[in-house]
This record gives sequence, structure tokens and C-alpha cells, in this order.
Amino acid sequence: MSNAWSWYVIIGTVATLVACFWVVTYANKQRASKEEIAESEAHVWDEDIRELNNPLPMWWFWLFILTVIWSALYLVWYPGMGDFEGVGDWSQEQQYEAEVAAAEAEYGPMFAAFAEQDFADLARDPAALGVGASLYANYCSQCHGSTAMGARGFPNLTDDDWLYGGSPQQIEQSILNGRSGVMPALGAALGGDQGVDEMVSYVQSMQDGLDQDSPAHARYMTLCVACHGPTGTGNQVLGAPSLVDDTWLYGSSPQAIRKTLLEGRNGVMPAHGDLIGADRARILAAYVYSLSNP
Ligand code: HEC
Ligand code: HEC
Repeated sequence: MSNAWSWYVIIGTVATLVACFWVVTYANKQRASKEEIAESEAHVWDEDIRELNNPLPMWWFWLFILTVIWSALYLVWYPGMGDFEGVGDWSQEQQYEAEVAAAEAEYGPMFAAFAEQDFADLARDPAALGVGASLYANYCSQCHGSTAMGARGFPNLTDDDWLYGGSPQQIEQSILNGRSGVMPALGAALGGDQGVDEMVSYVQSMQDGLDQDSPAHARYMTLCVACHGPTGTGNQVLGAPSLVDDTWLYGSSPQAIRKTLLEGRNGVMPAHGDLIGADRARILAAYVYSLSNP
């Protein structure tokens, strides 16, 4: 917060507290005059209820005063007055870090014990898989789905089709360091609309074998082969998907393929190493591995 905003908040807060205090004490001094009492005889409801300006009952008055004092003390102890940090030495960050440290102290040894086992044992250990499932729900399900079946642009982790490889070690690398698949935009290189249309049909027919007679074949062999391979099976080092299976990251419709060719694609799996640490990543890798290798 800049200095000016900090003062703005402080002055606003103090002024509000002073105003509250003033209103409560001012109202407490108001007493109905003789004339008002006389006049109020004209407005009587239910035989004895009259409308008059009189002080609050004392307990109520003091409750208001206490709230004002409580707020003032609160704002001295906790941060709240602009940049003033409060004398109580409390902050959200500190509390968060303390809670994380406490959780780490409690669960860390358990994660570490699991992480010492090798993948084959981990992937068969129901306790480790249970932990893996809850880690998955926490860190991965928002992108890969609660059943890990993925969605458009987010790979399915339960099938045996892998962009970057399905060994436990490769999965662990995907989790620790993240992945970034770069499919360049190739509309111009394909020579505009007609070239793109031809390539779309060519890609759609690749599953039935490469059509050497298609005008797109020669272009495939120059523009695409380096990443998707001479037979279209892809390249796991680059994360270039196979174009000859029937698993599609972005969809198999002509529209989807057209969009891929014209605009390119860049799916990003964020690196999780710093966020979750090596032990959790290892348990997660075993869990993900177990999904396609029951
Ligand atoms: C912000 C979204 C996001 C989150 C969170 C995320 N992922 Fe991913 N993940 C992706 C995307 C997108 C890809 C595909 C990258 C690409 O297209 O090259 C991917 C790829 C992967 C791959 C490689 C799949 C393959 O076919 O080779 C694995 C394994 C994986 N994620 C596991 C996980 C795990 C485990 C977690 C939880 C720790 C996780 N992901 C969290 C978006 C995410
Ligand atoms: C530099 C390497 C590279 C080149 C060259 C390249 N691609 Fe790709 N392609 C990729 C990568 C990587 C992806 C995955 C993108 C992602 O993960 O977001 C991809 C994705 C695709 C997809 C989407 C597949 C799916 O499952 O939805 C199609 C279709 C495709 N490429 C076709 C082509 C064609 C046709 C050419 C040539 C005209 C080509 N690519 C050239 C790297 C490349």
C-alpha cells in the first residue's frame, strides 16, 4: 500500500471509531422534555407504548461502548490500520507458514517413508495409492479431472497413450519439471486455405495409412515429419502426439485440426517440484502410473 493510501485508511478508520463513540454518547444524553412527554400522550399504542427520545438502557449503552473499545484494541494488536503491522506480531503469511510447517512435521515423515520404496512396490501399496489419490485430488484434478480422464487440451492420465512417456520415471519428470508442448502455427507454410484443407483431410486419414498420392503428403514430409515422425507416431521427447491413433488432445473434427494448424497449440503442464516437493511427486507418479497399469 502506498503511503497516501495507508493514511487514507488510518484516518478513515479512526474517524469512524470516533464518530461511533460520539453518536453513542450523544444519543445517551438525549432526554425527552416535559413538552415532548405531554405531546406524546397523543401517540399511545397498545395502551402504554409511547414514542419518546430517551437514553438506551445502561447495559445496552455499555455494550456499544465496549464494541468501540474492542475495535480500537483489535486495531492496535492486529494489522488493519493501513501499513501499521500491529503490536501483536501476527500476519496471515506467518500463520500460513506455521500451519504448513506443522503439517509438514506431521505428514513429511510418512511421505518420506513412502518415497523410499521403489515404484513397483508403491504402485501396488494400497496405503500409498490412497495418499496418492488425495494428493491428486488436491493438486491435479482441477486440470486433469476428478477421474483423471482429462478434457480437451488436458491429457487423459488413465489410458496408455502418452505425450511424454508413461514409465513411472517419465511421469515423475512431467510432474516435477512440467511440460510445454509447442505446435507451431503453420497456416502460412501450408500455403493458405487450400493447403490447410488438404492437410486437414490428410491428418484425418493418417490412421488408415499415409496417402502418398495426397498433395499434402509431400508437405507433411517437410513440415511435420521432424516432430510427428515419418509414420506419424509422434515424438515423446517433444511431446508431439501420435496422429495415427484415435486419441486426440484437441479433438479430431476438421474444425479442431484446422485450428491446430492455423493457430498452433501450446499445452502447458506447470512444474510442481517446488510446490509439492520430491516425495509427494514420487507418490503421485506411482499413483498416476497405477491408473493405467492396474
Ligand atoms: C494447470 C493445469 C494442470 C495442472 C494443475 C496439472 N496438469 Fe498435468 N498437464 C497439464 C497439461 C495442459 C498437460 C499437457 C501438456 C502438453 O500439452 O504438452 C499436462 C500433462 C501431464 C502429464 C503428461 C501426460 C502425457 O501424456 O505424457 C502428466 C503425467 C501430468 N500432467 C500429471 C499431472 C499431475 C500428477 C498433476 C498434479 C500434481 C498435474 N498433472 C497437474 C495441465 C495440468
Ligand atoms: C516443432 C514440432 C512440431 C511441428 C513442426 C508440427 N507439430 Fe503438430 N504438434 C506438436 C506438438 C508438440 C503438439 C502437441 C501440442 C500440445 O501439447 O499442446 C502438436 C499437436 C498437433 C495436433 C493435435 C493432435 C491432437 O491430439 O489433438 C495436430 C493435428 C498436429 N500437431 C498436426 C501437425 C501437422 C499436420 C504438422 C505439419 C503441418 C505439424 N503438426 C507440425 C509439434 C509439432
